[in-house]
Amino acid sequence: MRAVGIDVHGGTNVLQVRRVPEPQVGAGEVLVRTVASSLNPVDSKTREWEIGKLPANLGWDLAGVVVASSDERFRPGERVIAMSAQIATGRGTWADLVSLPGDLLATAPAQVGFEDAATLPLAGLTALQALQLAKVGAGDRVLVVGAVGGVGGLAVQLARHLGAAQVDGLVSRASHVDAARELGAEEVTVDPATLSEGAYQVVLHTAGPHVTHVLAAGGRYVSIADVPLPDVPGASKSYVEQSGEQLAELASLVDDGVLRTRVAASFPVEQAREAHERFEAGGLLGKVVLNFSPPTSERGE
Ligand SMILES: NC(=O)c1ccc[n+]([C@@H]2O[C@H](COP(=O)([O-])OP(=O)(O)OC[C@H]3O[C@@H](n4cnc5c(N)ncnc54)[C@H](OP(=O)(O)O)[C@@H]3O)[C@@H](O)[C@H]2O)c1
Repeated sequence: MRAVGIDVHGGTNVLQVRRVPEPQVGAGEVLVRTVASSLNPVDSKTREWEIGKLPANLGWDLAGVVVASSDERFRPGERVIAMSAQIATGRGTWADLVSLPGDLLATAPAQVGFEDAATLPLAGLTALQALQLAKVGAGDRVLVVGAVGGVGGLAVQLARHLGAAQVDGLVSRASHVDAARELGAEEVTVDPATLSEGAYQVVLHTAGPHVTHVLAAGGRYVSIADVPLPDVPGASKSYVEQSGEQLAELASLVDDGVLRTRVAASFPVEQAREAHERFEAGGLLGKVVLNFSPPTSERGE
């Protein structure tokens, strides 16, 4: 089967689409034929930085079809999604077949295709868990820093769903303001200096410099970014954890029309390098997807 992996750390040129043995299905595991995955910053960092063991197959997001299962909750033919913490487990999802513990899987949302479903796992779990850590609830005014990013775009929508009174956004460029509003952000700016001092019960920081002057007394500042926390009371970091249960919640929210997924670009797996280059160029309004559908000539084999 095909898998996208690295033998050394480096630029996009170290990515290889290679033939590797198919995985064994362990007890309690589910074997999934991958249809789509999406790129996340961790994939670029793992490729480029000294992270994880080598050689490695990359990829955290998975959307595909069950082909074999030793977990009675999932049957062959079922459409599923999952997040695999690739650095910790070594099980990258950028492969034609992926075997994962059943606890990491959820039924894929029915209302969207595989590419959209593949944008949900890592970014969705991160957004949900960070907002839960921040205890977002009724009456809170929430600022999402990086409001149209992979995580931020879902966080804006989830914060509203969790009952926030108002969700505002900070974005990197003026051309992103309307997109943040379409996701449900009310006040959107590119300039942190224009944000009201002490106005927010919750700040979710996903990118860029910290924005602490806006935090209300007693407010919660949660960051997911790879930068040290600011020295303010109530600041904490959130690290994403695998959870099939929470993925099922997110999938239901997609089917209920609460959460909108966004695909900015899609590349066949053979173009993994081009996909990384597009992702790292930034300025995206949606996620970059890797598509594992077999080439037309191989279909039906
Ligand atoms: N702790 C965890 O468990 C965890 C989980 C997931 C992600 N992360 C980390 O969280 C970060 C965000 O992840 P992501 O998937 O959302 O990345 P992403 O899709 O690249 O989104 C980041 C967004 O922030 C914007 N941005 C950059 N600088 C900004 C600034 N100064 N002000 C406002 N917006 C700014 C970017 O805009 P441009 O594209 O225009 O630059 C982009 O829209 C990454 O560093 C990632 O590694 C951590």
